[in-house]
Amino acid sequence: PRILVIHGPNLNMLGTRETELYGTQTLDDIERELSLLAQQNGAYLEFFQSNHEGDLVDIIQGAVDRFNAIIINAAALTHYSIALVDALKAVQIPFIEVHLTNIYARENFRQKSLLSPVAQGGIFGLGSYGYSLALLAVCQWFNKN
Ligand code: DQA
Repeated sequence: PRILVIHGPNLNMLGTRETELYGTQTLDDIERELSLLAQQNGAYLEFFQSNHEGDLVDIIQGAVDRFNAIIINAAALTHYSIALVDALKAVQIPFIEVHLTNIYARENFRQKSLLSPVAQGGIFGLGSYGYSLALLAVCQWFNKN
């Protein structure tokens, strides 16, 4: 399958950002690991990170006819971006929501995800391993008949 991996605001700072919460792996480290796993499982991956809501909307709109699935950590936008949810609904590409931390064990304002109700599934609290699990899940959808 062709999978678009999207990272929202501030995830470009992984590695130095609140490491007690988000760990010391950089986004590059995570993407390198994922690329290897994709190769091993016959998946094609593209990565996109932006701190800008509109750029994320644009990349989602542009995914139509190009990708079979989206893996997205929308970061803070998860909790308030109706535009992002609308874009995901509009393109009708199945997506998996990933969070490094357990958003349900954090501040109140993080305990609501606008994406979850329209996601195929979600993984939270497992650190960067969550992306790997999401990738394997997508491969499994497309390998079974
Ligand atoms: C996050 C959780 C969000 O609440 C936060 O704004 C992030 C990262 C996570 O991966 O745990 O930036 O999406």
